Amino acid sequence: MSLKTFVSEALTDFSTVAAVTPSSKYLAHAMLEHLPLAGTRVAVEFGAGTGAITHELLAQLPRNATLFVFEINRRFYDCLRRNISDSRVALIHTSAENLDIELRRRGVQRVDAVVSSLGLAFMPGRERHALFQKLLPFLHERSVFTQYHYIHGLQFVEGRLRQMHMAPLLRRYFDSVESKIVWRNLPPAHVFTCRMHRTPRHLGSSLIT
Ligand SMILES: C[S@@+](CC[C@H](N)C(=O)[O-])C[C@H]1O[C@@H](n2cnc3c(N)ncnc32)[C@H](O)[C@@H]1O
Repeated sequence: MSLKTFVSEALTDFSTVAAVTPSSKYLAHAMLEHLPLAGTRVAVEFGAGTGAITHELLAQLPRNATLFVFEINRRFYDCLRRNISDSRVALIHTSAENLDIELRRRGVQRVDAVVSSLGLAFMPGRERHALFQKLLPFLHERSVFTQYHYIHGLQFVEGRLRQMHMAPLLRRYFDSVESKIVWRNLPPAHVFTCRMHRTPRHLGSSLIT
């Protein structure tokens, strides 16, 4: 059922869903393997879709952790609500761009782990920048952020498909960006693991692309 929901939403709004099928278990595993999950108190997931990564994340998070899940798509959000009953999860039906408001409203000041499946390549540069500008103040030197990006690397720019390289973008925000390829996914994907070694830098407008 969730596969049907996923494909149908992908056909309806591809630029938001940014994928044709949910992530494979191999991609989900790679997205989580470098996160400091054993010591995580607060985790955030951006773009949970039908929960391919969420379920794996919950299997690994400690009992006293909280997972804030941001999902903008109404059908995916409803699907997550039906399928996840775990007191550690706060499902939030809004854009990841509202994370600062949503986290502060819940008294959160620090986030240990962030898993993002957002189609960053499909977001206008200004939105991407706003997202990182809001996220970085919540991170500390042991926080880890992961993001995947399909290896074809395509993005829409003014209605045209163009190739986008994710690593340079992430390096503008993080001190360390490591990547690996997960072949067992449709399509195969780069998984980026990003860390800050210092207090988040001031984010100037020159970072917008
Ligand atoms: C590529 S899919 C990944 C879904 C799932 N995590 C997986 O790996 O199968 C991207 C997801 O991000 C959601 N999304 C896109 N833009 C968003 C935004 N600004 N805020 C929150 N969710 C967003 C889409 O609705 C979709 O569920």
